[in-house]
Amino acid sequence: MKKIIFFFLVFSQLGFAQFTDINIVKEIHTKNKGLVVSAHPLASEAGAKILKLGGNAYDAVIATQYALAVVYPQAGNIGGGGFLVGVKNNGEKFTIDFRETAPEKSSRDMYLDKKGNANTDLSQNGRLAVGIPGSVAGFYATLKHAKLPMEKLIQPAIDLAEQGFAITQKEASLLNNQMEFFNQHNKNKTVFQKSTPWKQGDLLIQKKLGETLKLIQKNGAKGFYEGKTAQLIIDEMKRGNGIITLNDLKNYKVVERKPISFDYKGTEIVSMPLPSSGGILLAQMLKMSNFEKLEKYQQNSTPAVQIMVEAERRAFADRAEYMGDPGFIKDKTEMLISEEYLKNRWKSFTMNRATPSSEVGKIIPQPKESTETTHISIIDKDGNAVAVTTTLNGLYGSKVVVSGAGFFLNNEMDDFSVKPGVPNMFGAVGGEANAIQPGKRMLSSMTPTIVMKNSKPYIIVGTPGGTTIPTSVYQSIVNIVDFKLSPNMAVNSPKFHQQWLPESVLVEKNFPESTIADLQKNNYKIERTSQIGRTELIIIDENGNAIAVADGRGDDSVAVE
Ligand code: GLY
Repeated sequence: MKKIIFFFLVFSQLGFAQFTDINIVKEIHTKNKGLVVSAHPLASEAGAKILKLGGNAYDAVIATQYALAVVYPQAGNIGGGGFLVGVKNNGEKFTIDFRETAPEKSSRDMYLDKKGNANTDLSQNGRLAVGIPGSVAGFYATLKHAKLPMEKLIQPAIDLAEQGFAITQKEASLLNNQMEFFNQHNKNKTVFQKSTPWKQGDLLIQKKLGETLKLIQKNGAKGFYEGKTAQLIIDEMKRGNGIITLNDLKNYKVVERKPISFDYKGTEIVSMPLPSSGGILLAQMLKMSNFEKLEKYQQNSTPAVQIMVEAERRAFADRAEYMGDPGFIKDKTEMLISEEYLKNRWKSFTMNRATPSSEVGKIIPQPKESTETTHISIIDKDGNAVAVTTTLNGLYGSKVVVSGAGFFLNNEMDDFSVKPGVPNMFGAVGGEANAIQPGKRMLSSMTPTIVMKNSKPYIIVGTPGGTTIPTSVYQSIVNIVDFKLSPNMAVNSPKFHQQWLPESVLVEKNFPESTIADLQKNNYKIERTSQIGRTELIIIDENGNAIAVADGRGDDSVAVE
């Protein structure tokens, strides 16, 4: 009997679900136990199962990511990339950058036609849109912080792929919506294509993906970057206009980077540095709104929103001008997050007046990324914390499934400035710092973040949402630190977003109407959207009491050790 059960669980421990029983758990309170929050209940449970087997947070995050690659094919992946931020109970703070890279045969103008016009269909769909995947290398780089062997951590994903699982209503409707693209971009039939519409409870079995995961289980990262899987990726490239080579795959490398860290009202914020813009934007926005003593106001009141919108506007203008892969550009992070620079940046702020975007930056709007990313937050019973955001970029990435290997490839190349100055699929344009170069990492917005208090993890947070990621993480943090909201309200109350250009402020559909009316009076242009982000948040107090909240906007779910 296939069924989907939604319930709310407090002070409780989950039994392990059958793959046909999808138990979506939105909030768990516990003490001195590990917690996993992710976009899918079966992935969170896979992580919690590993914690129960004696794994730590880093074991659990590997298992959760592999499981997401099976049960959440829209964004969970082995064909994409991402960023990990970790804080260990010995105080060590680290990040792993497993962002995709541009293929060796890529070039600055590869998406321009003869007239010099950007062909964004090519950067967004099909084989030419694919960056060299980093996820599997990222999982292996995480392993040195873990306790269990990789073979064990990948097993829950293999079981899910081989035995199948009941898909949720949301996944069914996304698969149906994308069917036309799957048909268009795959020469060989994939398990995601079907002649009758998908429905909630249908079993999705992925034998080929199971075989690929077993190759990785047996051969390590080489099971992906070399040998049969690598050859299948190259064969897939040749079915169309793909340019990735065996060399590209073999040479892929993760980068371990020093996190961005800064103080904020008695906390230390630890986040992702370039090539994600996330950590810099978060620092800039928090520091700028602090000039106005944000804590004096109420969440989503007119003055609070206005201050935050103006901080967002200025930070995003800087994103377009200064940010890209630090291996290829001059890294201006230190300047961008300095008090002196930000004070100067904030001089043009006037309460009750929308600052025109043209006053805060040259008109080169930053790329707005796709919203189909996914985030995992984990704490273990020993106080190790991890936040990972990972992506295929668009929904199901390039829509291309590697034939014979069963996984989607990303369309991350669209996160580069395809043509500096020309809009991408979301109507936004990037700057020169993010132009395409072989081996370069495309600029990201992903913002996996750990907030520390008294040298211990206090908040573990992140979200999908393209350019709305840094603003959602920013709002989730101030909701707790400044506005003293509960974790549930911090995640689920309505969010808003401004990204310099376009000029408008995006608000969620249930945003307070009185604030909207006030903002409009002050010349703000408002646009409504159904939802912003899906935030996964864990908060831990000094006594080890923890609350994990999975965003109510999706199938996101918490599991406890
Ligand atoms: N493609 C989403 C991001 O990197 O932010």
